[in-house]
Amino acid sequence: MPADFVIAIDGPAGSGKSSTARAVARALSLAHLDSGALYRAVTLAALRRGVPIEEGRLHALSQSGAIRLVLKNDEFVPTLGGVDVSTDVRSEAVTADVSAVAAMPLVRDWVNGELRRAARQHNRGVVVDGRDIGTVVFPDARLKVFLTAEVSERARRRAIQDGGSLESADIHALGEVIAARDDADSTRAVAPLRPAPDAVVIDTTAISFAAQVEQIAGLARRVHVD
Ligand code: DC
Repeated sequence: MPADFVIAIDGPAGSGKSSTARAVARALSLAHLDSGALYRAVTLAALRRGVPIEEGRLHALSQSGAIRLVLKNDEFVPTLGGVDVSTDVRSEAVTADVSAVAAMPLVRDWVNGELRRAARQHNRGVVVDGRDIGTVVFPDARLKVFLTAEVSERARRRAIQDGGSLESADIHALGEVIAARDDADSTRAVAPLRPAPDAVVIDTTAISFAAQVEQIAGLARRVHVD
């Protein structure tokens, strides 16, 4: 596949975008790029360095060169001061603050530049997942997919992923947190979460992970051949 071959996978929190994108990349021998990890890395850097969550301060921090994406085994991982922070960026403290960071236009501009730069580095192409990949970052992506799933199902998957309780009251509470994050991401002024007009929308509530990966890989093979 050509170097500029980009597959964009967008969708709300817990829709399985990142794990799906990683598996699709593997199936097609492409690299995987998780854009949310970069917003999380900016947030982690601010928390670690005591930088207030203010747009000007975070813009300066992002431009300082401390945060970089590094390609490791076909996976772009976020690094802070040269250290892989792909696990650290999943912490609860980062999750609590990242929506506010991702709502800042100057941070978004920096992240988008880094994503485009990373995509150009890979000689076979990339599968990029996020919220605005098909609408803003790579509007010319060869394939755009928008993954959705019912909130209760997304909450259940998130609980399994995090090793949390599967009691219905806990799933319900987690569902409320996820719905609030959907709302924050969909109603923000810059790059709100929505499918691109030319995206293929896939509801994954009732299909298996393997089936959704195969469906997207199949679509990708078709656009590549066309
Ligand atoms: O997918 P995630 O939970 O790692 O995303 C972290 C945050 O970043 C979440 O609030 C949505 C936001 N985000 C975004 O605004 N645009 C993207 N392309 C990716 C993530």
